[in-house]
Amino acid sequence: MKVTFVDFDRHGDERGMLVALEEQRNIPFTIRRVYYLFDTKPRVRRGYHAHRQLKQIMIAVSGSVRFHLDDGFETTEVVLDNPYRGLLVESMVWREMSEFSSNCVLMVLADQLYDPTDYIRDYQEFCTLAKRERE
Ligand code: TYD
Repeated sequence: MKVTFVDFDRHGDERGMLVALEEQRNIPFTIRRVYYLFDTKPRVRRGYHAHRQLKQIMIAVSGSVRFHLDDGFETTEVVLDNPYRGLLVESMVWREMSEFSSNCVLMVLADQLYDPTDYIRDYQEFCTLAKRERE
């Protein structure tokens, strides 16, 4: 399946590095929510859901994490391991995250507020809905 990365400009000088995130500029949506995962315990695999509408950009601002992505037809694996690369995860993509490094801070920008009804947590239901959308 197709994966979209968004590579951010790095503003660096002898003092260090800086990345700026701006909605509708280098983030292709209006940012309505930001959250981050950190202190993830060893061997944890989490996610196990898709969203009906939500779009997100994932950024490993520290450390690294592996993504397993699935659109209901194809799957792919992606590793995020730098703070200047975003991974766009569109709606109707099943995601699982694993192999969090101990220093991983995974920041997520989302185009909607938190809404539990937007989650699909049953994989079979997700596959059924994904197939129906393509018909
Ligand atoms: P959860 O959806 O289980 O995380 P995962 O990405 O691994 O599926 O979220 C963990 C908890 O955090 C759960 O109690 C819901 C809460 N939560 C919020 O309150 N707001 C949010 O924006 C998110 C993403 C989660």
